[in-house]
Amino acid sequence: MNYYQQHQKQFVEGLTAFLRIPSISTLSEHKPDIQRAAEFVREELLTAGMTAAELIQGKGNPLVYAEWLGAPGKPTLLFYGHYDVQPPDPLDEWKSPPFEPQIRGNDIFARGACDDKGQTYLQIKAVEGLLKTTGKLPVNVKFLIEGEEESGGEHIEAYVKSKPPRLKADAAVICDTEMFAPDLPTICVGLRGIVYGELFVEGANHDLHSGVYGGAAPNPIQAIAEIVCALKDREGRIRIPGFSDRVVPPTAKEREAWARLPFNEKEFTEKEMGARALVGEPGVPLFDRLWGRPTLEVHGIRGGFIGEGAKTVIPARAVAKISTRLVADQRTEEAAAQLKAAIQAACPKGVTAEFKVLHAGAPSLTNPDNRFIHAAAEAMKQVFGKETVYIRSGGSIPIVGVFDQSLGIPSVMMGFGLPDDNLHAPNEKFHLPNFFRGIESVARYLELLGG
Ligand code: BES
Ligand code: MN
Ligand code: MN
Repeated sequence: MNYYQQHQKQFVEGLTAFLRIPSISTLSEHKPDIQRAAEFVREELLTAGMTAAELIQGKGNPLVYAEWLGAPGKPTLLFYGHYDVQPPDPLDEWKSPPFEPQIRGNDIFARGACDDKGQTYLQIKAVEGLLKTTGKLPVNVKFLIEGEEESGGEHIEAYVKSKPPRLKADAAVICDTEMFAPDLPTICVGLRGIVYGELFVEGANHDLHSGVYGGAAPNPIQAIAEIVCALKDREGRIRIPGFSDRVVPPTAKEREAWARLPFNEKEFTEKEMGARALVGEPGVPLFDRLWGRPTLEVHGIRGGFIGEGAKTVIPARAVAKISTRLVADQRTEEAAAQLKAAIQAACPKGVTAEFKVLHAGAPSLTNPDNRFIHAAAEAMKQVFGKETVYIRSGGSIPIVGVFDQSLGIPSVMMGFGLPDDNLHAPNEKFHLPNFFRGIESVARYLELLGG
């Protein structure tokens, strides 16, 4: 039995302690938990045998940095992960409380189990195993773990953009994505970017009786509906002028590879999504729609009367949370400006509309033909016993674009989540066999790169 097999129990205990900390970055009352989670990561890095472990304070939640630089002449990897999590609501849909991790079958259930505490922790344990058994690492390793990925915070972005010499590395390694299917080792080479904001719409200066004024008064909620429908039509086409001009379509080679992925559309629709039908741009293949095209979504609308019973009111104001996902080579600032202009153009008579950006992150697309990605594919193949597939993902990890632009390094995205891990949803879980295989894959990866 090797170190990794011997220590599975301890690894799960350590992960459980990490998962108990409700480090929700978007809710300010959890600031102390954010701090605790950052300290926890720092301690773990030290226990693993990393050096110079410290919290980097700045505007926003602390970054955790650590390094091990005892392999001169060998490549340097920058491991990235995030210790913050999404809010757990709706709470009553959880089978066990979100911050009281529970193992059921082969899965550990808790908020952050997969995204991204489990996957951040597996990187640390991989390094720990090598350091404890051989006293060294085959390559140089740095860690940069952040605490506001889920809330679009800009601390890490500002830090990486300042190009601190100690971040110098040959590639970033990120475990924060998903496998395409169970047992299918997967590397993600493209992510969507995002512009997320709030649309404030105002009509009359106070609420109005809907019988007395209905027929003459502007209704901000109706206005939001009209604006949203103008931004994206019934078929799912985005109607923002110029928005898709920079979109780089997937290459024929990439499309062919996607078409060969093991996939059952009915199962995806009915089991994984629990939906009745797929929607989206007619004539555009599904993986293009998910990974290669921009989207626009409404996340919530606040306004008017939503209490029990009926109240006949025309609300004075309403707010909608709206985001758009971007793909390479769209630019966040240009996309935000186009979106704002389209909102003004669609704003109906009698109301004002203002879109305020909450956060933005660039899309990314990595050329997989480099030794860092090849070695990762080989390591995962050896551990999982199957050929590694390359996919893109529709989700966003904003720092990937910054690693590329500011540090000039590719990101190697080895993901160990599963399609049914319920990221951001109730009953988030991490499949423990993937936790263990993830640890071994990362360790194998370091060995291959150093060898
Ligand atoms: N790890 C996810 C992104 C992800 C999920 C990539 C699944 C690939 C597959 C990340 O934590 C995330 O949720 N990001 C946010 C970004 C944000 C709030 C700026 C997202 O995509 O909504
Ligand atoms: Mn994540
Ligand atoms: Mn997430």
